[in-house]
Parts: sequence; structure tokens; C-alpha cells
Amino acid sequence: MEQLAINGGPKAVTKLTSSPPKVGLQELAEIIDLWPISRQAKEAINDILQHEPDVGPHMFRYYHPEGESTVDKAEREFCQLFGCRHALAVNSGTSALIAAYVACGIGPGTEVIVPAYTFFATAATVVTAKAIPVIAEIDSSLTIDPHDVADKITPQTKAIVPVHMAGFACDMEAITEIAREHNLVVIEDCAQADGGWYKGKRLGTWGHVGCFSFDAYKLISSGEGGMLCTDDEMLYVRAQSWHDTAACWRPDRYARERMPGELFCGENYRLSEIQGAIVRAQLRKIDATISSYIANRNRVRDAITAERFPQLQMAKDNDPDGGAGTGIAFFCPTARKAREVIEALQAEGVPAGGLYDQNIRDWHHYDHWEHILEQKTPTPEGCPYSCPYYKGTLPDYSADMCPKTLDYLSRTVRIDIGASWTAEDCAAVAAGINKVAAALLS
Ligand SMILES: Cc1ncc(COP(=O)(O)O)c(C=O)c1O
Repeated sequence: MEQLAINGGPKAVTKLTSSPPKVGLQELAEIIDLWPISRQAKEAINDILQHEPDVGPHMFRYYHPEGESTVDKAEREFCQLFGCRHALAVNSGTSALIAAYVACGIGPGTEVIVPAYTFFATAATVVTAKAIPVIAEIDSSLTIDPHDVADKITPQTKAIVPVHMAGFACDMEAITEIAREHNLVVIEDCAQADGGWYKGKRLGTWGHVGCFSFDAYKLISSGEGGMLCTDDEMLYVRAQSWHDTAACWRPDRYARERMPGELFCGENYRLSEIQGAIVRAQLRKIDATISSYIANRNRVRDAITAERFPQLQMAKDNDPDGGAGTGIAFFCPTARKAREVIEALQAEGVPAGGLYDQNIRDWHHYDHWEHILEQKTPTPEGCPYSCPYYKGTLPDYSADMCPKTLDYLSRTVRIDIGASWTAEDCAAVAAGINKVAAALLS
């Protein structure tokens, strides 16, 4: 009888042929193909790749052979850039919001105050988290009105969600003060102001949790993606659990719960290594981009001679040197006048637009959120609106529940600012605004 290998005999299997990498050079070539570079450049790259060994990256963010994965690095770099203790990369801004809500204990029986002007995801995710969205007015800064927030607090209120909409920073001093007084959680939705500022501190680091979107239209973009940041370790751990199918991939993967409230069933919002790599490159550029936006926004705004035009009211700036600088806004006396001014500005070549037209479907203002206004739910039980744990009185949902918001939005003229504009571009845009205002708003 042959001696067993376990007893020092020869091994029966000395070598097995290894498989090629699941994601190898062909996949890399497909990724390169996404960029519309010249055919010659692509051929040259392919030629070089042909001579490389067919190796592939580790595609999963956890258990990276080198220890730190690309997504880990993106999170670490985000923390350095934003000055926060924890960052969690996720696959969308919507995912960041839900993970933040769940981490903060928002669920059956609670209310969350959201602004009437925001992309619908801010409010929809409150319902997904099984809580009741309470819709608050905006003020002349086009962001949530702290006075209306204070008026809408009830014993059920758990959180306030200021949204730094269209690059405009919320009044975070007032909001965090109200939250402190009432022991509420503040979750900032920074999706439209990634990398922006408020009074020298990054947007997203004023509240308990900051949520960011990296979708295709955002200031930091990986096509799809997002980030959540917090200084609170337990909030981070809970968000990590939720984003990762019940804490499957913790560093101590099979450990029992270390702190009560750490382990529960979740979803899968993990960011891929490919998107993580793009986020890293985007993070390196964001400060230069935001500085350019803010400098150009200030140039245009400071050259508008608003004092000469009694019918032109500049939007309130909660921090004149902050926000993300992607736009400026002013109000006309009526919605009709705003449309007239926008048309005249566009004819001048100024990138102007409006924020509201009652007849145009748009999920950035609450009056079109019939999912919420009509309490639509995927199953007939009507949860969370009919939840027995909810002891409050449901908001009186209707399309005219926030008239101040609709009034402001309908009278707004918004100018999109370009990060690459030169000083001459800024001067020309400001001149165009002054020209139209002199004719129509004097
Ligand atoms: C204010 C706001 N919140 C949340 C989101 C959702 O982000 P995502 O598209 O990454 O899910 C968006 C996206 O447009 C947004 O504008």
C-alpha cells in the first residue's frame, strides 16, 4: 500500500491548473472602451495589454489581498478631506440616506422633517425606512426654513434633514441649534453640494451624519455611488451593518455583537472597486473644482447691481462665501415676470432657468410627490402611514401644504455658474443680468 501523504508519502496532487482571472485584460479593454478616445489610442493600448500577463484586480471591497482595498482608500481619503472620523462608501446617494436613517434609529412611529424643495429621494427614503415624512417650507435661501422646522416638531420627531439644494448651503447654525434643543438627529443631504462649505466647515460634517451622491450629475461622480460620513462610531457601525447584508463582512466577520444594536438584517449597498477607483480620482479634483465655482459665483454675484433694480430680490445666502458655488438665484415679483426674465436672459446667452412650473412634472418639489401626498405603498396595509406604533397625527398632505415654497420657487430665476469660466465670462454673464434687469425689473 502506498504511504499516505499525511504520513510523509508523495502527494497525489502536486499541481492544479489555475483558472484565468474572472475579470482580466478583456474587461479592462471594455472599460477603456467607455472613453471616446481615438481608435489609434485604443489600438495602441490594446497592443500593450496583449503583451501583459492576464492578471485581474480584486473586485470585492472586503478581504483585499493587500489589506486595504480601493474603496477603503477612498473612504480614508474622504475622511482626510472632509475632516470626519468615519466614511462609508455606498452605491448611491439614496442608499446613503436610507443607511443613515436606519443607523439613527428612524423607523416605525417616528417622523422626519424634510424640505418641500429637494429631489424626491430625500423624502422617499423616509418612507422606505418606515417613518413618516413631514414636509417643511423653504425660505428665501431656497433651503429648509428653520422657523418652519421648529413649528413642525412633535413628540414623534426624530430627525431633521437639511438639504443643501442646488449648491446652496442650509442655515446649519440655526438647524443644529434647534436639533440640540429638542434632542433631534440632523442628517445632511449633500447630494447637490458634494465638497461644499458652510462657515469654514464642510457641508455634511455639521450634523450627526452627512449623505453624499456620486451619481452621473453630481460634483463628485462615479456614475453611481455615494458616501455617508459621521464622527459617531456607533452610527457608523450600524450604517455599515445595514449597507452590508447584516454585517456580513466586518473585519471580525463572525464575531458576536460587540455592542447592543450592532447586528441586524440589512441590504447590500456596497460600492464596487471600479467605482471606488473613480471616486479616488474625483476626490483629488474636488477642492479645485469647488474653489473655481465659488470664485466665479462670487464674481458674477458681486457684479450684479441689485440695488438699482427694486423688483429684483437676491436669494438669501446662508454663507456668502460657502455652498458649492454652482449657482446664484434671485426672485422676481411674480411667476410671470420670472418667466419673462428667464426668456430674456436666455436670449442674451445667460444660462438662466426656472425652478418651478406647476404644469411641468418635476420631482424636485413636493406638490408632485403623489407617492407621499396620496400615501401610496407597495402593499395594501399602508405601512408606515397606518403603523400602530405611530401615535402622532399624520401631516395634512396636499399639493398646497407649503405655499411659501411654491411662491419662492415659481418666482426664482437661477443662473448656472461654470467652474471653467474666465473672469471675462463672469463679467459678460453679470452684464447680461444687469442689462435684462434694467429693462424688466427696474
Ligand atoms: C438632493 C438629492 N438627494 C438624494 C439624491 C439621490 O442620489 P442618487 O441618485 O445617487 O441615489 C439626489 C439625486 O439626484 C439628490 O439630488
